[in-house]
Amino acid sequence: MTNTPVLNCQLLHLWTQQPPRFEPGEPLFWDDPYISEQMLAAHLNPNTEAASRTPPVIEKTVNWMMTVMGLQPGQSLIDLGCGPGLYTSRLAQRGLHVTGVDYSRRSIDYANHTAAEQKLDITYRYQNYLTLEDENLYDAALLIYGDLCPLSPENQVNLLRRIHRALKPGGQFVLDVTTRQIRARHGLKNSWYVSDGPGFWKAGPHVVLQHGFDYPEHDTFLDQYIVIEADGRATVYRNWFLDYSPETIRPVLEGAGFAVRGVWNDLVGTPYTPDTEWIGLLAQKE
Ligand SMILES: C[S@@+](CC[C@H](N)C(=O)[O-])C[C@H]1O[C@@H](n2cnc3c(N)ncnc32)[C@H](O)[C@@H]1O
Repeated sequence: MTNTPVLNCQLLHLWTQQPPRFEPGEPLFWDDPYISEQMLAAHLNPNTEAASRTPPVIEKTVNWMMTVMGLQPGQSLIDLGCGPGLYTSRLAQRGLHVTGVDYSRRSIDYANHTAAEQKLDITYRYQNYLTLEDENLYDAALLIYGDLCPLSPENQVNLLRRIHRALKPGGQFVLDVTTRQIRARHGLKNSWYVSDGPGFWKAGPHVVLQHGFDYPEHDTFLDQYIVIEADGRATVYRNWFLDYSPETIRPVLEGAGFAVRGVWNDLVGTPYTPDTEWIGLLAQKE
């Protein structure tokens, strides 16, 4: 009798069908002990925009934000999803009182270490920003590199209301969101590859089945990765994206109590054009 390996085809079939919108995949992604190491390396690699923008763009963004929000030394700012602190450290160097929140333990450890080395007084918190309880504390808030878009509509409202509550009256909020143009460029990725490891997802040998699912009537897109390890264990990772236009993001921000003060193609002040892949926004607590 031969020892023929058995693949669970039913499960594979199920996983390769389009799931309901925002059905979660594996919850441990940003804070996964192995993946967070790859993410941190990506944040710190100046030659890729996989996790953060490049250092020259970040520098320009910080200068632009200081000007467009009229920020003054001594004012307070919170950066949600601060990663390893690429914006927070620059803003603290300009004299702001900065708080950074992220729920990658590895990124927060790195950020704390860097702040100590650079003698910068920054408060970093390892926390899921969907549980933010701060109230009336900050002159400004940041949510940068499309961090609103992977959340379900319910969680987007939840987060925006929490940011609104955390700001002082008249407090300002800078964020960026993706548009459908970015999906048009990336397209549907239906492919697979074998890695001997170490790879992005796992240290050991593994197979990755990558699927893209489009929900055009809801401006929603899913990048799904099924990662199968040598012992047959399979994990489904899902990156959801809810894309926006200026017309569709405005009511979402207004519904959470913000007034939209400016719309750009990015966070360095490029005037808005309808073909943009990103929308940079300045909103204000009303
Ligand atoms: C695309 S990265 C952007 C990082 C940073 N804003 C930048 O542009 O360099 C998203 C960041 O948000 C963090 N993050 C994702 N979901 C989060 C949540 N629910 N609570 C706190 N941080 C979260 C991740 O750990 C990651 O550092």
